[in-house]
Amino acid sequence: MRQWILKAGATNLDGLVLENAPTPEPGAGEVRIRVHAVSLNYRDQLVLKGQFANHLPARDLIPISDGAGEIDAIGAGVTTWAVGDRVTGLLLDWQQGAPTATSFGLGSLSEDGMLAEYVVLPVDRVVPAPVSLNDTEAATLPCAALTAWNAIHGGDPIGKESKVLVLGSGGVSLFAMLFARAAGAEVIATSSQDVKLKRWMDLGASDGINYRDTPDWGKAVFEQMGGVNKVVDAVGTGTLSQSLAALAYGGEVALLGLMSFDDHPLDFISLMSKGASVRGVAVGSAQMYDAMVQAINNYQIHSPIDRRFRFEEAKAAYQAQSSPDLFGKIVIDLV
Ligand SMILES: NC(=O)c1ccc[n+]([C@@H]2O[C@H](COP(=O)([O-])OP(=O)(O)OC[C@H]3O[C@@H](n4cnc5c(N)ncnc54)[C@H](OP(=O)(O)O)[C@@H]3O)[C@@H](O)[C@H]2O)c1
Repeated sequence: MRQWILKAGATNLDGLVLENAPTPEPGAGEVRIRVHAVSLNYRDQLVLKGQFANHLPARDLIPISDGAGEIDAIGAGVTTWAVGDRVTGLLLDWQQGAPTATSFGLGSLSEDGMLAEYVVLPVDRVVPAPVSLNDTEAATLPCAALTAWNAIHGGDPIGKESKVLVLGSGGVSLFAMLFARAAGAEVIATSSQDVKLKRWMDLGASDGINYRDTPDWGKAVFEQMGGVNKVVDAVGTGTLSQSLAALAYGGEVALLGLMSFDDHPLDFISLMSKGASVRGVAVGSAQMYDAMVQAINNYQIHSPIDRRFRFEEAKAAYQAQSSPDLFGKIVIDLV
C-alpha cells in the first residue's frame, strides 16, 4: 500500500514523503480500514510544524487525524464490526463521561493517523459513519465536527432562544453554526474578511462582525446585539477577554482554540458579574459522536467542504488548509 509519512523531527512539508509499505494486518481486537477520504484540520498544521503539544514527532508518523472508509478485515475476537461497515476513526481514546487523558489523538506524537491507503485501529477507536453522508463528508467529522458538537451541546446546551457567537471561518466554527442552527439558535460570526462574512450570512448566520476592523468586537456584540449565550472560541486565550465581553449574563465560553495564547489580562469583572463560565473543550467522546451522527442524519446536515485533492496531492492539500482563503474543510479523496 501507499502511505504518507511525516519523518521524525520534521518541521515543514519537506518532511512529508510518500512511501510504499506492507499492508498492515489487524491483530486481536483490531480492524483494518480501507481509507476512502481524509480531511485536514489546523492541528495537522501544528503537527507538521512540530508545534502540537510542543513536540516534534519523535518517530516517523502517518499524519492526519481524520479519515473515513470501509472495514476490510477484522482481527481475532472482533464481534462489534464486520467487513463492509462504513466508519470513521475516533480521534481520542475517550468513550463517555469525563475526558480521559490517555493520548493526544490519532496522527500526532505516538499515534499514527489516517493518511494511508489502509490503517489498523483498535475496535474502540472506530465509530460508524452517518448513512446520510458520503465518505468525503464523513472524513470531516472526527475532529472539527465532534469538537463543534461538544462546544454547542456540552456544558450549557443551547436551544431555540439562544444566540451563539463563532470566531473565524475555520472548520470547527462552520460545524458549530450548522449544529446551532439545527437546534434553532441564532448564530453570529466573526471573520477577518468581509467577503467571508457575506458567505456566513448566506449559510444562515444572522449577523457578522469583522474582527480586524472592530478589535473590540466583544463589546460590540454585547452592546449592539444584546450579548450571546455561548461563544465558541476557536482562537484561544488570546481572545478570551473579548469572548467574555460578548457573553450575555449566565453565558458560557467553550474555549478550544490553539491559535493564540496571548497573555491578555482576564476580564475578571465580566466573568464574575455575568456569572459566566469558561469550559475547556477537547474534541469529544464516542458517546457524543453517536449523538452528533443522529443529528446529522435527522437534520440532513452536510459537511462544509471547501476543496478536494487526490492522494498524491497531499502537500497541496496542506497548503490549501493554511491559506487565508480557506472557507470549509479540505479533503483528500483516496478512491
Ligand atoms: N480543543 C480541541 O479539541 C480542538 C479541536 C479542533 C480544533 N481546535 C482548535 O480550534 C481552532 C480552529 O481549528 P480549525 O481546524 O477549525 O481551524 P481552521 O479551519 O484552520 O481555521 C482557519 C480560520 O481560523 C480563523 N482565524 C485565524 N486566526 C484567527 C483569529 N486571531 N481570530 C479569529 N479567527 C481566526 C480564520 O478565519 P477568517 O479567515 O474568517 O478570519 C481562518 O480562516 C484551532 O486553534 C484548532 O487547534 C481545538
